[in-house]
Amino acid sequence: MNQYVIRGGNPLAGEVEIAGAKNAALPIISAAIMADQCVTLENLPDVNDVNVLLESIAGIGAHVDRIDRHTVKINGSTIHDCCVEYEYIKKIRASYYLLGALLGKYNSANVPLPGGCNIGSRPIDQHLKGFRALGCDVKIEHGTIMASCDYMRGTSIFLDKVSVGATINIMMAASRAVGRTTIENAAKEPHVVDVANFLNSMGADIRGAGTSRIKINGVTSFHGCSYTIVPDMIEAGTFMMAAAATKGDIIVKNVIPKHLEAISAKLLEIGCEVEEFDASVRVVAARRLQRTHVTTQPYPGFPTDMQPQMTVVLALAQGTSIVTESIFENRFKYVDELARMGANIKVDSHTAIIDGVPSLTSARVSSPDLRAGAALVIAGLSAEGVTVIDDIVYILRGYEDFDGKLRSLGAEIKTVSSEREVEKFRLGGVS
Ligand code: UD1
Repeated sequence: MNQYVIRGGNPLAGEVEIAGAKNAALPIISAAIMADQCVTLENLPDVNDVNVLLESIAGIGAHVDRIDRHTVKINGSTIHDCCVEYEYIKKIRASYYLLGALLGKYNSANVPLPGGCNIGSRPIDQHLKGFRALGCDVKIEHGTIMASCDYMRGTSIFLDKVSVGATINIMMAASRAVGRTTIENAAKEPHVVDVANFLNSMGADIRGAGTSRIKINGVTSFHGCSYTIVPDMIEAGTFMMAAAATKGDIIVKNVIPKHLEAISAKLLEIGCEVEEFDASVRVVAARRLQRTHVTTQPYPGFPTDMQPQMTVVLALAQGTSIVTESIFENRFKYVDELARMGANIKVDSHTAIIDGVPSLTSARVSSPDLRAGAALVIAGLSAEGVTVIDDIVYILRGYEDFDGKLRSLGAEIKTVSSEREVEKFRLGGVS
């Protein structure tokens, strides 16, 4: 099992290039199988979740041709099966996007029900409500969602909860329904807009993505296209937090600064300098940062996927901060690990009360999920001594070359796979 070893204490400095957004890439890969012509996707992040999803569409017969690390050609004309294997679903929850894509294309899909995960139960009732409203018969039997219909008809769907996944899944299916569908109370995240833009590039007729009302006029077929995936706002935000926690000075490149506004605003509020350029942002943390309150919200609010990284920054800030998690029920698991590094945080249900400490100390910690894992890396980068992070498999699901990018900013971090290597790192340098 791979681990990260980190010798903390170096302020990050330099420039880092952000990859394409994982959370846009996953639905876009799923949607690509809806065309019977070749679709070329560029700026695809080379992360485990994306690679597993590519295997899973190849598993049902799609032709997948990896052109280079960040470019893939997908042709869905060779699909011979609407049943997706549990092996894939087990590894990535987001393969539920194949439900919307297969339903849209074939009016039939059998996809195993994804289980809960480390950040709490993850219901998909709103996805299923949407498919049913479009006229599908949806059953769950033997752990598999079976959905089918003769044809889908457009309708009006009000989401009871703002859900990124349900908005995208319904949008995909409805783009091939007969007539017009309206999704009310839709999610507005940049990746929702990116998926709508991609579907439109294949011939869909979707308007209003990025607002709470999305209107979809169904079309009968999709054609091939080339599409470049939007930059990953969460990867960008993670590096911005790493700069803040290490008193660094970095330029985060290949981003859309508008998508980072909630993150930039909080960093400015606690005392960082944040400078926006056309496609990059510079973050400078010249002195000890100050306390604040943060509540996670759907976009354009502060993203839940940035909550653990922000908590690490506030664990080091002067004064008492309060972080409230309003999206997921169980997203403070990593706090016990941070406490082992000297953080002073009390969690009461959905709220973390953080008494900032001047510095953290190194420890051996374990990554409970993707974003919490990234947060522990940030903690390790700020702490004196050698931190060992176990279970980095979660981090690799969503960050491309995380340790390499951090090294390019001056961090001492290495991937190791044995105790011997950990000891060698403790005694020596990074090589
Ligand atoms: C996506 C992101 C995830 C991010 C989350 C919120 C992907 C692959 N994952 O997850 O990184 O943290 O958005 O920005 O894009 N809910 C229901 N019923 C449903 C669907 C959701 O009650 O049918 C609830 C969830 O439990 C949660 C909230 O709605 O409390 C938001 O979830 P949702 O936006 O759907 O998250 P995901 O799409 O799963």
